[in-house]
Amino acid sequence: MPQNHLPKVKSQYESLPYPPCNPKDEHQRLVLTWLEDLPMINHYCFAGRQSFQNNFRALVAGGGTGDATIFLAEQLRHTNAEIVHLDMSHASIVLAQERAKIRGLTNITWVHYSLLSLPALGLGKFDYINCSGVLHHLADPDLGLRVLLSALKPEGAIGLMLYATTGRTGVYQMQALMRLVNGVDTEREADDGRKIANTRDLLGSLPPSNWFMRGAALHHDHELGDAGLYDLLLHSQDRSYSVSELFDWLGGRHGLHLSFSDVQRGRSPYLPHMVLGSKPPAMAAGLRQLPLRQQYEMAELMIGDIITHSLYLTGDAGCTAPYGDAAYIPFFYHEPLTGEIVAQVFDSNRGQPFMLTHQHSGVSLTVNPGKYGAKILRLVDGQKSFGEIFDAFRADWRGQGAAPDNAALFADFAESYDTLNALERLLLRHPEADKAAAAAQAA
Ligand SMILES: C[S@@+](CC[C@H](N)C(=O)[O-])C[C@H]1O[C@@H](n2cnc3c(N)ncnc32)[C@H](O)[C@@H]1O
Repeated sequence: MPQNHLPKVKSQYESLPYPPCNPKDEHQRLVLTWLEDLPMINHYCFAGRQSFQNNFRALVAGGGTGDATIFLAEQLRHTNAEIVHLDMSHASIVLAQERAKIRGLTNITWVHYSLLSLPALGLGKFDYINCSGVLHHLADPDLGLRVLLSALKPEGAIGLMLYATTGRTGVYQMQALMRLVNGVDTEREADDGRKIANTRDLLGSLPPSNWFMRGAALHHDHELGDAGLYDLLLHSQDRSYSVSELFDWLGGRHGLHLSFSDVQRGRSPYLPHMVLGSKPPAMAAGLRQLPLRQQYEMAELMIGDIITHSLYLTGDAGCTAPYGDAAYIPFFYHEPLTGEIVAQVFDSNRGQPFMLTHQHSGVSLTVNPGKYGAKILRLVDGQKSFGEIFDAFRADWRGQGAAPDNAALFADFAESYDTLNALERLLLRHPEADKAAAAAQAA
């Protein structure tokens, strides 16, 4: 392997593959990764039109012990898709291969190289590239990104995870502390075993005023054995980003469109009106009128607990399935919801603004369901398009005057959609994707 990697980083992941895993657990459960859920990729990267049947190619760059690779390969098991798992750590690849073997997955190609070697490897171009928790460990993250972009098809997309500065405040203080304690870059530098032991000793005795201790609930990696602890608190190459730095870098410098989706919470931690809770100050209404980038920047500082930024990178905003096109099919996701269940919540105040308290995400906010929100939600069954839902709505119309047309219904339902979509509980797909999938299955 050419030396286009950081030796200390490679050495860490050879001796402490990440995330730590026991391949035998594959007999019990499938690990899901948030960004690699195909309905999410379809909604945010392919305007809901991707069938995943036409020789779909995914690259998992810096795939580690295989979470994203295995999840993609499982979902694409009965298609002609190929998943390429690339990592510079041989030990990590071996664990990922064991997991795939236990599952009987045969749609994965294994590549033991630095991702910076991609241009020379002749692997072809990809529809989707996952790069989770990797670029921030490179000496030059922008070079890594440019290499990934060069391996992407023109209509392709990247699922990216990078560390977030604000949420990791305590982590960086601990890393600085441990560099001092362990004499990093001095002649008294401790070996890895001692560094880990020193860290554990200190974690057991630090006062509650310490910033890592204050934010203890935010971090769990250090509880995942040596590999997790080293990755979180002893990494030799680790940087983080604010929302504004990501917009400048990815949007400004590379012209990419950014769709943030925090694990379990979607866009909600990036939106002030979803962060400020059930009793927002009066000035919050004004914040909602600001450009999204500014809202995201403020919300990151308000909520304080975003420890990683998970986002899709696409060529433009048109890659997100559009709200307002009657051909699209809305469907509930990430929770076993039905139209009836959601309609009851949205009708809890008889069509008036109501308090939505969403346990999974911790979000609590006032939502205006519009005049028809509950009725529309009741008709969402994951099969009918908005056009069909609106036709069914009109067929049952008992109001005075003419029934509202599609434009009026889309406008009325917009806040309900925005709220549920921001939480990733309501997504869209185009019926073309269903037709192509059905045709492939029939063939
Ligand atoms: C923190 S782990 C993340 C693993 C996986 N992506 C995940 O999210 O679970 C970082 C991984 O990136 C790999 N890595 C770091 N630099 C790399 C490079 N230049 N080329 C290929 N892999 C790299 C490491 O070997 C390690 O497996």
